[in-house]
Amino acid sequence: MKSPIRVTVTGAAGQLAYSLLFRLAAGDVFGPDQPIILQMLEILPAMQALRGVALELEDGAFPLLVDMELTDDPDEAFTDANFALLIGAKPRGPGQKRGDLIRENGPIFIWQGRAINNHAADDVRVIVVGNPANTNCLIAMANAPDVPKERFTSLSMLDHNRARNLVADKAGVHVSDVTRVCIWGNHSETQVPDLSHARLCGQPALEVINDPKWVRFQFMPTAQNRGRTIIDARGHSAAASGAQAIVDHLCAWVAGTPDNDWISMGVASELGDYGIPEGLIFSYPVTCSNGTTQVVNGLEHNDEIKPLIRATTEELERERHIVQDLLF
Ligand code: NAD
Ligand code: LMR
Repeated sequence: MKSPIRVTVTGAAGQLAYSLLFRLAAGDVFGPDQPIILQMLEILPAMQALRGVALELEDGAFPLLVDMELTDDPDEAFTDANFALLIGAKPRGPGQKRGDLIRENGPIFIWQGRAINNHAADDVRVIVVGNPANTNCLIAMANAPDVPKERFTSLSMLDHNRARNLVADKAGVHVSDVTRVCIWGNHSETQVPDLSHARLCGQPALEVINDPKWVRFQFMPTAQNRGRTIIDARGHSAAASGAQAIVDHLCAWVAGTPDNDWISMGVASELGDYGIPEGLIFSYPVTCSNGTTQVVNGLEHNDEIKPLIRATTEELERERHIVQDLLF
């Protein structure tokens, strides 16, 4: 038996975590021979609910779940963590944009970034989910100067999965036949869902679909606004599909991306990655192997995509400006 890994989940009594924790315990991410210790962080008023979640995890009798720690202290929660899943944050309400949460949620990621810096394992890998995910990730990363920047990522796999499903539905193919979809930029309405490089059963997706109006006026806005559509329909933001996206993001990071495909992931831009200003957490097509991530370089942006990339970049720069005082 392998030695256990420590996985910190914040906002562990929240609805997204409720869809995720049982999958982690079941081995859906780290595999059937990898024991795990769940270190669950909540705020004090939610500790009672968290104890209820822990009781249910116990009742699952998961062979891989060797221990659980429940705490409202970030320093404790991140001690020796190999993976840090930063979910705990307020979700948006009716009429709000994710970016409206920035001053309320942003400070959470100062303290969590510092706790990761000071207490996590040397190999810690971080995924930020709480919205606005890209800029919260930037805040956590800036407050963890001793952790290599490439260990900080934000979730855009939910957008990626949404895009794949829309294309599969339009073309009448299985979703696994849709590869090389890209989500560029911010996890917001300015995100750029891009099919220029996508393949359907190995063929160029745009040629197979052969419907530019659908791509521009149905596919793109549907993908961009799907989070809002879910909130309007459900009364709460996406939870189980968010958990699935986290599973996909982590599985790729741990086990690698398949040949000839990639995932979408928010990572710190390095100068030269498609000309995006250095340091912004920007969603790119990314491949993973041996636990590392690599931005897919060299893809062409066509004339339709270029201004959209500029707009999402400008939005991320505005968000960075708004939280400048949180980037120590
Ligand atoms: P929720 O309100 O059900 O749960 C959030 C939990 O976080 C609550 O239990 C709350 O007590 C806890 N929390 C708040 N501040 C905390 C802190 N400082 N430390 C630890 N825990 C804290 O919300 P949810 O539906 O689980 O969503 C959580 C976040 O994830 C929201 O910001 C939501 O917008 C975001 N989200 C992002 C994506 C994505 O694709 N990036 C997808 C779905 C949800
Ligand atoms: C989503 O994309 O569903 C989440 O980011 C939740 C939201 O606020 O839209």
